[in-house]
Amino acid sequence: MSDLGFEKAAKALAHARRVAVFSGAGISAESGIPTFRSAGGLWENFQLEDVATPEGFHRNPALVWEFYEARRKAVHHASPNPGHFAIARMAGLFEEMTTITQNVDGLHQRAGSPAVLELHGSLWSARCAQDCGAVVDPFPFPAASCPPRCKCGALLRPGVVWFGEMLPERIWHDAMNASAQSDVVLVVGTSGAVWPAAGIPIAARREGAFVIEVNPEESELTSNLDLSLRGLSGEILPRLLDAATELRALRPATEKRG
Ligand code: OAD
Ligand code: ZN
Repeated sequence: MSDLGFEKAAKALAHARRVAVFSGAGISAESGIPTFRSAGGLWENFQLEDVATPEGFHRNPALVWEFYEARRKAVHHASPNPGHFAIARMAGLFEEMTTITQNVDGLHQRAGSPAVLELHGSLWSARCAQDCGAVVDPFPFPAASCPPRCKCGALLRPGVVWFGEMLPERIWHDAMNASAQSDVVLVVGTSGAVWPAAGIPIAARREGAFVIEVNPEESELTSNLDLSLRGLSGEILPRLLDAATELRALRPATEKRG
């Protein structure tokens, strides 16, 4: 990571009033939660079509629930890492701060981030797979049976968004608005491979946000963003916040009011 890039990012944050974070699986990697597309990631070991589509669930609900119970177990035993905690700390530093995540693990919330916008749902909710309308939230771990059943007798399904499904409309709308109104957007730990989610930082930049990536590797979004900090989010984010806070403390009082 170049010092120049880091300083530029810290300066942008120090001057920002509205900030959004857009996170992906990489933010939870240092908590021991596997990502999807890295070597050894989930999509190397499972067929996405089998465990993350409505058709896969229809074919074999028990297999799908085994996959999600295993993920729920891993997260249940994991803890938020310094990257999650740095993002939670940001809520107190800016006039407006929105955390938008593609993750379903709930680790941002466990770190203390308020009002997280979960674009892809949550491992900690379930709903009726038929149309009785039942939602179980929170859906406690472990499930009572595998596959678990709804009170109407039908199967329950995980409260996550699968491939081929729509994102929750309200959350999508709020995420697009918050990021478009932001001065700075931090894109943390995502490959940017999954749409429409990946469109959020791109749309925000079009609206004038300064968009900073935090990722040890280049992503599909890199060339469309303003600045990339190469490294682990659990190491970079706490340092970046400290630097921004320090710079802000040095700013003249008149500017602070602005
Ligand atoms: P991916 O697995 O596609 O990408 C993870 C990203 O995190 C990669 O770019 C890594 O380089 C980066 N990374 C790894 N370790 C990191 C660390 N310590 N700090 C920062 N970055 C790190 O995961 P997502 O982009 O989240 O969707 O994937 C997007 C969507 O694809 C997921 O929400 C899920 C998946 O299929 C659904 O299930 C609908
Ligand atoms: Zn039901």
